[in-house]
This record gives sequence, C-alpha cells and structure tokens, in this order.
Amino acid sequence: MAVLNGTLSCFKQMDDIQFNHWTSLLEKRTGMYLPIERRSFLETSLGLRMKEIGIEDFSTYYQHLHSEKNGKREWLTLVDRLTVHETRFFRHQPSLDFLEKEILPRLFKSELNRKKIQIWSAGCSTGEEAYTLSMVVNQFLQKFQRQCYLAVTGMDISIPALVTARKGVYDQYKVRHVPEKYLEHYFIKQDNNRYQIIEQLKKRVCFVPFNIIDMKKTLLEPMDIIFCQNVLIYFNRERRKQIINQLVQRLKPGGFLVLGAGESLNNPHPELEKIKFPNSLAFFKKN
Ligand SMILES: C[S@@+](CC[C@H](N)C(=O)[O-])C[C@H]1O[C@@H](n2cnc3c(N)ncnc32)[C@H](O)[C@@H]1O
Repeated sequence: MAVLNGTLSCFKQMDDIQFNHWTSLLEKRTGMYLPIERRSFLETSLGLRMKEIGIEDFSTYYQHLHSEKNGKREWLTLVDRLTVHETRFFRHQPSLDFLEKEILPRLFKSELNRKKIQIWSAGCSTGEEAYTLSMVVNQFLQKFQRQCYLAVTGMDISIPALVTARKGVYDQYKVRHVPEKYLEHYFIKQDNNRYQIIEQLKKRVCFVPFNIIDMKKTLLEPMDIIFCQNVLIYFNRERRKQIINQLVQRLKPGGFLVLGAGESLNNPHPELEKIKFPNSLAFFKKN
C-alpha cells in the first residue's frame, strides 16, 4: 500500500520506468505535464479507473489504451479523469470588467458598424466560462442597443465536460456566483432547484471537442476575443509557448487574448501588445 496525503492508498505504486512511460504518453497526446511530485495522483487516478474496468496492472492498462478495439474510447475516459475541470460562473471579475470596459468599447470603436463578435473560450470545462462571456457581452449589446451577432465557442478536451456544457443546466451551488440580475435574466429555475440557461443565450454558444496542443485540426474562423484562463498552468514552458503561438494565429488583428491573471508569459509573442488593466493579463493583437 502507498501512503497518499497521510492516508493509505490501496493502489499499486509504479516504478520509475512505468512513470516515465505514462507521463510521456500523456505529454505527447495532451500536453499535460506531470512532475514526479504528482506521481501518487497518477497512480491513484489510473488505479481507480483500472479498478472500474477490472484491470490489475499498469502495463496491461497501457496496452489496453493502445488497443484497436476500445483504446480510443478508453483514452477519452482517462483524459477526463486526469484533467482538472474546476470552474465557475463569473470566476474572474477583473477579466470580465476588462471585457466590458475595454475590449468591447474598443472593438466597436475600431469597427463602428460591427455586425458580429466571435469569442472563443479555450479550455471551457463544463461551460460556465463560455456562458458567462455570452451574458456579459449580451448585457453590453443591450445596454448600448447594438444590433450585433454574438457567437461564443467553448472548446475542451474532455467529452463529459462538454456534454454537461451543452445541457446548460446547473444546480443551485454552481450558480452561487452569478449576480442576481444575470440569474433572473438568463436562467430559468426548474422545479428541482436546478437552473437552465435560457434558449436565447444557449443558441449563441456552441461546444466543440478540441485538443489545445493540436489546434491545426480546428476549423475556426479567426476570433475577436479569446479567453484561455486556468489552462496554461497544466503545460510546461515550451508547450505554453506553442499554445500561445497557435492562439495568436486564431486571433484577428485587433483582437484580444485574455489569460488567467497569474499565467505570466516570459516572452510575449511579437504580435501581441500587453494591455494594462488591474489584476488581469490581457493582450491586443497588433494590426
Ligand atoms: C481548470 S479548467 C479551466 C476552466 C475555465 N477556463 C475556467 O477558467 O474556469 C481547465 C480545462 O482545460 C481543459 N484541458 C486540459 N488539457 C487540455 C487540452 N490539451 N486541450 C483542451 N483542453 C484541455 C480541461 O479539460 C479543463 O476543463
């Protein structure tokens, strides 16, 4: 038995060679970086899944993931188990203030007769970020009586997270950070104390599977705004740089990239210009 955070784990420990095999596989396919300190996390997560499907050792499970028959499907389940989906509505208010007070006025100033705003929530988890962005933008459009088509695309590697996102139904605890005026305007309370996103908002938001380290396969038009918050922290420095390069390519000139406030970029991309706004980390793509 292994000791895990002070408790006894009934899962097997992996040796160094196995650990290297598993972390290389994960890095190659998802970009996820697991340092040696996260070994017990990996052992426990794999162990739990192996128990569910009746596999007893790491090597057999490794082979199972590579099998023609069920390997692909099992991989999707495992990725969901290993990724962190923590998220919430209105998670980072300074970034939303930035969106409302800087980005949107600037976009409309640069194109007075703007007819469309396209936003990407990269690493959207169960949808809260994408819906939050659509609520904030919609509120802005209504306030300034702008006739403008809004399209928000949420993307994530986890299929179960996307299934939840597409439903657009959240329990009371999940909506606890939604300001009252938004809750009243954009949700319908159901009998079972769950909250359904209203249809008018839902049809502005779509959810698509994607792997952020393999964006070449995503057929998206360039975006006006990309939010990519609390995602880069799971990648090593080289991967982060590659991801930023790809995100910049998917941004329109004059568009905005908003990262998590603590996700500093060591060498900002040459096409990006940092914009100062309190407690946020955002960039403008030079024209
Ligand atoms: C902590 S959540 C952040 C959710 C949201 N952006 C927020 O800030 O609240 C990180 C998300 O990144 C996703 N993710 C991790 N690796 C990914 C990859 N290679 N491609 C796409 N999404 C990935 C995870 O599935 C997870 O839903």
